[in-house]
Amino acid sequence: MKVLVVGGGGREHALIRKIKESSKVSEIACCPGNGGISYDAKCYPVSATDIDGVVALAKEISADLVVVAPDDPLVAGMVDALNENGFKTFGPKANAAIIEGSKVFSKNLMLKYNIPTAEYKVFNNPSDAIAYIKEKNEFPTVIKADGLALGKGVLIPETLEDAEAGIKEIMEDKIFGASGNNVVVEEFLTGPEVSVLAFTDGKCVKPMVSSMDHKRALDGDKGLNTGGMGTVSPNPYYTDEVARECMEKIFIPTIEAMNKEGRTFKGCLYFGLMLTPKGPKVIEYNCRFGDPETQVVLPRLKTDIIDIFEAINNETLSDLDIEWSDEACACVILASGGYPKSYPKGLEITGLENGQAQGVTVYHAGTALKEEKLVTAGGRVLGVTALGADLQEALDKAYCAADKINFENKHCRRDIGQRALKAIK
Ligand code: AMP
Ligand code: GLY
Repeated sequence: MKVLVVGGGGREHALIRKIKESSKVSEIACCPGNGGISYDAKCYPVSATDIDGVVALAKEISADLVVVAPDDPLVAGMVDALNENGFKTFGPKANAAIIEGSKVFSKNLMLKYNIPTAEYKVFNNPSDAIAYIKEKNEFPTVIKADGLALGKGVLIPETLEDAEAGIKEIMEDKIFGASGNNVVVEEFLTGPEVSVLAFTDGKCVKPMVSSMDHKRALDGDKGLNTGGMGTVSPNPYYTDEVARECMEKIFIPTIEAMNKEGRTFKGCLYFGLMLTPKGPKVIEYNCRFGDPETQVVLPRLKTDIIDIFEAINNETLSDLDIEWSDEACACVILASGGYPKSYPKGLEITGLENGQAQGVTVYHAGTALKEEKLVTAGGRVLGVTALGADLQEALDKAYCAADKINFENKHCRRDIGQRALKAIK
């Protein structure tokens, strides 16, 4: 099989490495890919959001399967376009990807089908939103832009002034464009967060092993929100009992709700959960693999991922036994100093070969090849990932490798997995 993967970050690199293990795959292509991915797949300079360009590329290389990994092309209907042109795909169609593409849609879905989530109200004008926040007078409060916002569309203001400023930025200054035409204002929840990615063919849902993201830029969960500074799997807060409750109250009801709405979801559905004192609640849905969750989940997958993709296409997922390794996995992101704000690019990366060790994989996110040298090309540069017999071993191995890799102004959190370790002890 010839497989085309759409995207160019660490998540896509982890997907490609897993696809490469399949005996059914003879060739892997990626667009646009990145410096590191180019060692594992043939990269084509087509943007991940260019629907016509990706369809043309799939034709040019006669792709047998196209895996669309990022949110924007899924929400924009890339899978629909590929299917219309006769290509097999992995990823939901646009009418199902809306579960991530519109927070108003997902909140209304949860309310209608009784799926536990934070209480909320939707507003289409700033003065009503502010009047509601004033009247509630509960801080922190949570403000979410309706549409996609590069993972930055959630504000958690501590004061009325900050809430007013946030509403103005989203709804009047339109810092996220049309994504801010509507906002969701919701109750602030507390509790450990868990990421659960799940395979679904629309008939059954098979959750993958759990993980924990670390979204803030600095140690101790300080600093700005980022795309994710590191992950561990499994997430110790996600016990078998919690998993059973989530399956019954959240995962199955969500799949059924989407079917009832005529929006069958096929692909990887990401449940962002908070384990509140009142039970697990949905913080967000994503219509895709998480980044950097994928980097710690897929290394634990023992089943051929192509068999899973095919079972989803054939709607026979319930017949497939998906196997996972008992090992723990940790991923430490090496970021450009300054991320998630501004940072330089084009800095040479050295020491990658020194980081090599049994069970360690360095997934590339923001890297590029410049005159055969590997240089930085984004905020999140590398995801240094290690498997270990337990979480401590995985973390030790990941940090040991991460410390041997260098580029100017390299930044990583030193406390990835510490909260999880405390929960185990
Ligand atoms: P999201 O972009 O939806 O993943 O939200 C970013 C982060 O904001 C989440 O990972 C949570 O830590 C936090 N968050 C979102 N919604 C809530 C909520 N209702 N209560 C508390 N924290 C939240
Ligand atoms: N790591 C969070 C996400 O992929 O949205």
